[in-house]
Amino acid sequence: MIEMIKVSKAYPADVVALKDISVSIGTGELFFIIGMSGAGKTTLLKLLCSMELPTNGLIEIGGQAINQLKGNKLAKLRQKIGVAYQDFKLLTDRTAAENIAISMEVSYKKPQLIKKRVRDLLDQLDLTDKHDAITGELSRGEQQRVTLARAIANSPTMILVDEPTGNLDATTTERVMKLLGNCNKAGATIVIATHDDSIYRNTPYRVMELRKGELYGMTGERQ
Ligand SMILES: Nc1ncnc2c1ncn2[C@@H]1O[C@H](COP(=O)(O)OP(=O)(O)OP(=O)(O)O)[C@@H](O)[C@H]1O
Ligand SMILES: [Mg+2]
Repeated sequence: MIEMIKVSKAYPADVVALKDISVSIGTGELFFIIGMSGAGKTTLLKLLCSMELPTNGLIEIGGQAINQLKGNKLAKLRQKIGVAYQDFKLLTDRTAAENIAISMEVSYKKPQLIKKRVRDLLDQLDLTDKHDAITGELSRGEQQRVTLARAIANSPTMILVDEPTGNLDATTTERVMKLLGNCNKAGATIVIATHDDSIYRNTPYRVMELRKGELYGMTGERQ
């Protein structure tokens, strides 16, 4: 599903955020990226959703080299990828429900289906009573969950989540991981960048550690 071959990313002013990363993530895999602040986790996710271009190396998704995709083809690929950004990127003047509905509206899903899916996701994330709340007025932990709901609403085949549990208590963290686990069981490939060892400790999944932009180690097995 995801193939990275000797991928490096430098930002202007000579910041080397990723150095020579080669990794292959299988279809339907649940995969963790860990590492200290500044290690390059977010950069790696941004490369996978082509929000940033690599300085060197090749990234393939579903057999397509994404650094070369443009226009329609790139838009099509992006529709299959759901991203929950570390800094949320929500429309803060819209309601939680409106934010979650966006990806489904863009792909012309039926209004009834959208309504049902939005309510269902809000219920699963313990946000039932926040349906009509203005997103900018929600707590950070609530906004984080709306971000996740928006990322998965349209059932993308690939889900990228950046620090999904940073602002959450243990019970809510469990809910979030259960929901992601269900998406994975339904077939989605999921990549999670995190500091929160409670979500990858004692799991059988692969965990890749980055240190200062380099691949430091990998534990776990492909499930
Ligand atoms: N747009 C940018 N311009 C310049 N440098 C950047 C930019 N984005 C990230 N960096 C730098 O690249 C490195 C990797 O950053 P990145 O955000 O990928 O780390 P991270 O592992 O996600 O950290 P955190 O755990 O704090 O979220 C850092 O040194 C950061 O300062
Ligand atoms: Mg980050």
